[in-house]
Amino acid sequence: MESDQASDLPITWKDVTKENVQQLQRLNTNIFPVKYHEAFYKEALNAPDGFFKLAFFKNLLVGAVCCRIEPHGSTPDQSQGNSLSPLYSSVGSRLYIMTLGVLAPYRERGIGKKLITHVLNLVESSPLCEDVTRIYLHVQEGNEDALRFYARFGFQISHKVVGYYRRINPPDCFVIFKTIKRP
Ligand code: ACO
Repeated sequence: MESDQASDLPITWKDVTKENVQQLQRLNTNIFPVKYHEAFYKEALNAPDGFFKLAFFKNLLVGAVCCRIEPHGSTPDQSQGNSLSPLYSSVGSRLYIMTLGVLAPYRERGIGKKLITHVLNLVESSPLCEDVTRIYLHVQEGNEDALRFYARFGFQISHKVVGYYRRINPPDCFVIFKTIKRP
């Protein structure tokens, strides 16, 4: 367990374990309109170091980030739209942020920044990420807070995917990404 001092709130980082995986499940249910299934939590328990990270304030799980690497050369299926986007045409592999969120009462206290900074550091330092040239994620249309948040960290919109979500409204999303510069 490492300790960290957020700009406003002090947080403690933890990895996902059998003991706390249900807390992650509750956090995701609380934050995201999409339901994450068993496979997601299995992946959480088996993920390489740093790819699923939990942020605690005191004993409460207040934020988490979950990501995975998409292998070199993999191309999006049709549901991702616009396979001509620079996001997909570039060389190297991609890091996909599946979820990144903070409990509402704890937002705008520097925790989101800690989570995305963790991802940026992971890409710079993990041997598993040495081939990663893009970080990307889906943001539901209308989630202006998230678009503004990610823009602050150098993410840009690639394209819109119409009908990406089947069970929530609005069903469309933006694919946003950040290019990682390699020496
Ligand atoms: N509007 C404008 N700027 C914002 C907002 C906002 N709503 N929220 C945060 N910021 C800015 C802050 O001012 C700060 O800027 P600074 O570095 O210049 O001071 C910076 O973004 C970081 O702010 P934090 O306090 O660290 O961010 P926070 O803890 O509030 O987390 C987050 C932001 C993660 C987007 C949060 O609002 C959230 O959990 N939303 C719900 C879940 C979500 O939408 N997740 C993202 C999309 S889905 C996905 O990532 C896969």
